[in-house]
This record gives sequence, C-alpha cells and structure tokens, in this order.
Amino acid sequence: MLVNDQHYQTIWLKEGNDKIVQIIDQRFLPHRFVMEDLSSVHDFERAICEMHVRGAGLIGAAAGFAMYVATMEAASKTSFDESVFQSSVLLKKTRPTAVNLEWAINRQLEAIATGKEINEKISLAKKTALAIATEDAAGCHRIGLHGIDIIEEISRKKNGDTVNILTHCNAGWLAFVDYGTATAPIYEAHKRGINIHVWVDETRPRNQGANLTSWELLNEQVPHTVIADNTGGHLMQHGLVDMVITGADRLTRNCDAANKIGTYLKALAAKDNNIPFYIALPSSTIDWSMRDGIKEINIEERDPDEVKYVHGLCDGEWKKVLITPAEAKAANYGFDVTPARLISGIITERGICAASDKGLLELYPEMKL
Ligand code: MRU
Repeated sequence: MLVNDQHYQTIWLKEGNDKIVQIIDQRFLPHRFVMEDLSSVHDFERAICEMHVRGAGLIGAAAGFAMYVATMEAASKTSFDESVFQSSVLLKKTRPTAVNLEWAINRQLEAIATGKEINEKISLAKKTALAIATEDAAGCHRIGLHGIDIIEEISRKKNGDTVNILTHCNAGWLAFVDYGTATAPIYEAHKRGINIHVWVDETRPRNQGANLTSWELLNEQVPHTVIADNTGGHLMQHGLVDMVITGADRLTRNCDAANKIGTYLKALAAKDNNIPFYIALPSSTIDWSMRDGIKEINIEERDPDEVKYVHGLCDGEWKKVLITPAEAKAANYGFDVTPARLISGIITERGICAASDKGLLELYPEMKL
C-alpha cells in the first residue's frame, strides 16, 4: 500500500543482502517512518514481543522469515536440527494469541525437514518465508474482492449515500504483508468510487486504531474519523454505522473469534442495533483444532504499563506520559473472544460464509474431520 505515494509492504529481504530482513518499526508510527534490519533470531524475538511488527498475518510472515534466519544461524552449530528446533520453541513463545505464529513456524519446520543437506535446508526456508509473505498479500487482496460485495450491497440500498463502516484496532496492511483484512474491502470500495466513511476505534491501550489505521487510511485518502473506544454504541443507536468489520487473531472451527480487546463489546452493540458484524481473515488464522474460543484460546496478558502510560508527540518530541496514579494497579488483557452467534459472516480469501462450522467447511471442505 502507499506511504507518501510510494508502494510498500511490511516485510521484505534487504536489496543486495538476502541475509537481512527489513521491517517497518511500527512503534514509531504515525509520527516517524522507521525501517529496521533484523538478522538474528534474537532480533526477531524482540521485534515480535515488543511489537515492532504486530497483527496476525505479519506476525506469521515475520515468524516465517525468523525461521529462515534460524537456519542460517544453525549452520555454524554442532547440531543443525537441534538449533533450528530450539529457535522454533523460542519464537513460538513470543506472542500466544495469533495462531499465524505457530502456523508459520510449523510450516517452516516441515519444509526444512524435507531438505537433505544444510544449504538445501536454508534455501527451502528462504523459499518458504517468501511464499508465506506472498500468499498473505494475495489472500488479503482476495478478501477485498469478496468483501466488496457486502459494501456494494449496502451502498445500493442507500442509493449511493455514504456507507459508514466501523473498525476496531488495526487489521490493515500494517497487520499483514499488504492490503490488510478488515481494510481490504474498504480499499477496494474506495478504488471503485463507492462513497465510504470509516469510524476508527482508537483501541486502547496501544492505540493501534488511532496510530496505525488512521495513518493507513490517510495515506490512501480514505475518509475516516477516529473515535474514542466507547463511542461505537452511541453511533450505532443513531444510525451512523452501516456495518462493522474487524480482523481476527484466531478463529476456532465453530467461528468464535479472538480479536483485539474491546471487539466483543462492539459485536454486542452491533447485535442490539441490528447492524451486520463481519470478521475478515485469511485461512492461516483459522485454528481447526479448537472449538470453544472462550474456554480454549490463550489470551495474551501484556505489561500493565501499556495501560498506565500513553505515547505520543509533544512539541515535536516523542514522549511517554503516565495517565494513572503512579501506584495504580492495572491489568492488560490483549484480546477478547467474540462468540460466533454475534458474527454475521466470515470473509476469507475463498469467499464469505456463515459464522459456523458448517459455513466454514463449505469454503474449506478439505478440513472435514
Ligand atoms: O496486538 P496486535 O496489534 O498484534 O493485535 C492484532 C490486531 O491488530 C487486531 O487484533 C486485529 O484486528 C487482528 S490482526 C489482523
């Protein structure tokens, strides 16, 4: 997608040195556009844990590249296989909720195991990392081509009046390799000249909506308004929201969706106001081994300081500001689970389906038990 009219993806191999992976360090957005070089498993561990890269798809793509770097590191160790395995264990611990992380690492382990000697294993890991990234971008593009049908339908019903879409957190291109999931149909609608306007939840505590989604939409010139997290219900009661669309970090096979904390409350408000609530995701975010999202999904708990402090620009300087009493106790649950019954449909790279085991299996018949 565009940054100052130039096309970027969120992760790539450095030009002229394919042993180095480059990312956009998202901690500094929207005020500074900083690129970072990653060249060791430790660099990746830090970048994923501390959220230089974040968002389900990008965490998966980063894990794919991390495993490629792990094979290069393993080449100088006594046991190549043991070293690669240990790196996979470390990387799997970096963030627990987005299933794309373990999905990408397991895919890499399988690919690497098919190589006979070390150089072949390294080259297979590189090829797989690139394939994961390319497929992620292509999948998101297809999500846009399917999701656009919903927006077009609402636009037709409103005789071309503005379609108001509410989104939570950042399931935009910054959360993937390109296009995003929740944003892909939005970008497609904008490209086709449909009148749209996006309500962007700020998304405390880390403000991915205010910092990232707003920045993305601004770069693509999509009309939008940032709102405080608690505003959505009021807007829905007053007819100012036509649909809600968010991403997901893990979807169980019966379609319970873990997404950024606060998503569940938006789904409840949408249900109460008869507003369609969609989840957009690539199949790499489906956890076919789980059924009950509330009981089974591991919800990440992060440093309480993320709740107690906010970051931002003050008189041109990047500042961290304490907003609670210094001794206040804070809790920081990263995600919540929206039960399938509150979800109007799932938008995937293969099409749109009902939020149920049956609906999902119509799109993915090969996953029947
Ligand atoms: O904690 P993050 O920023 O990695 O969380 C991910 C998200 O931005 C959201 O939960 C998103 O809607 C799903 S990931 C595409």
